[in-house]
Order: sequence, then structure tokens, then C-alpha cells
Amino acid sequence: MWILSEISRDGGEVGFRRFMELALYHPEHGYYTSGRLPWGRGGDYLTAPTASTWYGATVAGMLSEISTRFGGRYRLVDCAAGDGSFLGSVLTALGAGAVDVLAGTTAVERSSVLRKRIADRLAGGALAVQVTDRFVGDSAEPTVVHASELYDAMPVHLVEQTAAGLLELTVVGTEAGLRWGRRPAGTDLEEYFLRHGVRLEEGQVAEVNPEAESAHREVLESCGNGVALVLDYGYEAVRLYDSRGRRHGSLVSYRAHEVDREVLDSPGERDLTAHVNWDDLRLAAAKCGWTEIGLMPLAEFLIRAGIAERVDEAGFGIEADLDAGTVAARQEIKRLLDPEGMGSDLKMLIQGKGELGRIVGEILNRAV
Ligand SMILES: C[S@@+](CC[C@H](N)C(=O)[O-])C[C@H]1O[C@@H](n2cnc3c(N)ncnc32)[C@H](O)[C@@H]1O
Repeated sequence: MWILSEISRDGGEVGFRRFMELALYHPEHGYYTSGRLPWGRGGDYLTAPTASTWYGATVAGMLSEISTRFGGRYRLVDCAAGDGSFLGSVLTALGAGAVDVLAGTTAVERSSVLRKRIADRLAGGALAVQVTDRFVGDSAEPTVVHASELYDAMPVHLVEQTAAGLLELTVVGTEAGLRWGRRPAGTDLEEYFLRHGVRLEEGQVAEVNPEAESAHREVLESCGNGVALVLDYGYEAVRLYDSRGRRHGSLVSYRAHEVDREVLDSPGERDLTAHVNWDDLRLAAAKCGWTEIGLMPLAEFLIRAGIAERVDEAGFGIEADLDAGTVAARQEIKRLLDPEGMGSDLKMLIQGKGELGRIVGEILNRAV
């Protein structure tokens, strides 16, 4: 197995975070970097942008409204742009009018294979899309930054609270394959829980994403001012680390739309994901003067952002003939709004700074 030689090169044992880094982002074998398109309809799982173009189209409607109220254009940045589905549906919905709303568009994606895919997919539209692996913004330019399932795809440390103290879970390479190991956790991990006011119970397993706060802060600082729309699975620290809800942590693996906890099996061929601690992203915002506009389930966000009006405008509303097109559109919308699924499990964190933040606050807080 390719990962055994990587682990052996690192001394035969690596922290779980290093294992997850290799499994998801190894340049040749990583889940996101090896060249196959792992998610979407034929893949392992759906994200909101890959589930339906109605997600991007609804955000596009909100972007137009922001531009009208703002009286000008601004930059749109999609962090972790994946296969380009989000920007694709936003730009399709805006059509030729994209140039009146957006001063520029940037797709930020870590995987080079996916960057190529995005560039090919979005070439030749009304608005040129800059595709990059690292966003360096212009702090004077108002920006709307969007990130769907970026933070839950970042490698995490795995720890277990024991009577003897906090241990870090490791992955050991052996002739028989991979097995779990444990070693004392570093003080940085102990401090993380102290900072968030969390006490793990004996026997409780939890994840720590050490990059989330700094990465989010870097993005917000790079934008200078604007709005951040962060869509992800997660909880605030007090719930995320509540042993009654998640005694075994939130880390899971996805393969062919099946979820399980076999996270060491077939590395590079299955997704690994851990819930976001929203407080990490709140701390990041507070440190650079951004304020929270809201944290709400995806369904509520889409309704506040005007999905019902978009559906009516497109002719699929209550009065529409029940032909195949209407039924298909309604199925997709139902999936995004599903209170037993995406509509409530995925949450949108909205943060803002400056005039764009004020405008989005007004749009999302109007009566629905
Ligand atoms: C779960 S997928 C989500 C893709 C897309 N946003 C969507 O919702 O369909 C996670 C994506 O994040 C990308 N990614 C992870 N870390 C990143 C980083 N630091 N900067 C940019 N992209 C990153 C991965 O390569 C992968 O394409």
C-alpha cells in the first residue's frame, strides 16, 4: 500500500492529522488530488453546489441584489472551489449581467487537477475567472467570499481523554497494514480545549482542526471588507465536544454515498471529514474586526436569500404545469431544503465587515 512507504519514511508512526493529510492530499494518491472526481452525483457524496444548480442560482440572486443596493461591483471568491459547480451555477444564473454585478471572480482550489477542471469548465464566460491555489486579495476591494465544505475537508488531530491525560491518536504502519497507536498529546492540543472552555470526559474522542482559525483569518484579512458565506457541517464548541452527543467524535468516512467510521481503510479512495468548530471561525472574525450576521441551517439561508422567488421567476412555482422539468427542479430544491438532510445538517455562517456586510444583514434579516 502506497501510504505504508510514506509512513515508514516518517519513522513508522504518524499523528492522525498527517495520515489524513496524505489520504486526502498526497500529490499522486490523495482523494482530492489523484484525478478522479470523488464527489457529485456519481461519486461518494453530494455537496450543496453539486446537489443542485439552485444553490448557486439563489446565491446569484442575492449577489445581484447586493450590487443594486451597494450601487457598484465587487469581487466574488470561491474558496475550495472543487469542480467549479458553485461558480458555474452563479455565473450561468447571472448570465451577461455578471459584468454589472462582479468586478472579478476568483476560484481558490488546493488540488491542481481540480484547478485545471475549473479553468476548463469556466472558460469563455462573460467574466474571466482567475483560478489559483492561494487567495491573495486586495484589501481595498469589497469582496464576497464563499466556502462550501472547505473547513470540514481539512486534516485534523484526533485525541482521546484518558485517566493518564490527553493522548493523540496515531497511525502505525506494520507489515500487516495500518493500526492505531497513541502518544501523549502536545500542549498545543491541551491549550486548544482550554481556550474553548471544553473539558473532555474520560474515554471521549475528539478532533482538533488546528488550521481552521488561522486559515479563515487569512482569508478575511485578505478580503479587507465584505461578506463571508461559509457553508459546512459543524457545531459550536459547547455542542461539538459534548460527550452526550459525540463521545466518539465526528470524524467519518464517505464512500459511494455510504458513511462509516473505517477511516484507516483504503486511504485515498474514501473521503474523510470532521465537523467544524464554528467558534474557531468566530474567533478568526473577531480578531480582524468582522462581525457575525448569522449562523443558520442551509434551508433557512436559502429561503431568506430568496429561493422561492427564484423558483417562481423560473416558472417552477405553485402554478407550474407538472411536467418532467418541473418535477426534476422541485426534487432538487427539496433536497437542498430537506429538514431531514442537507437543509438542516448543513449550516451557513455569515460574517461581514463594512457596507457589504450591512447590506447582507438587511437582506437576510427581512421578514420571510
Ligand atoms: C468537500 S470538497 C468541497 C468542494 C466544493 N466547495 C463543493 O462544495 O462542492 C473540499 C474541497 O476543498 C479543497 N481544499 C481543501 N483545503 C483547501 C485549501 N486550503 N485551499 C483551497 N482548497 C482547499 C479540496 O481540494 C476539495 O476540492
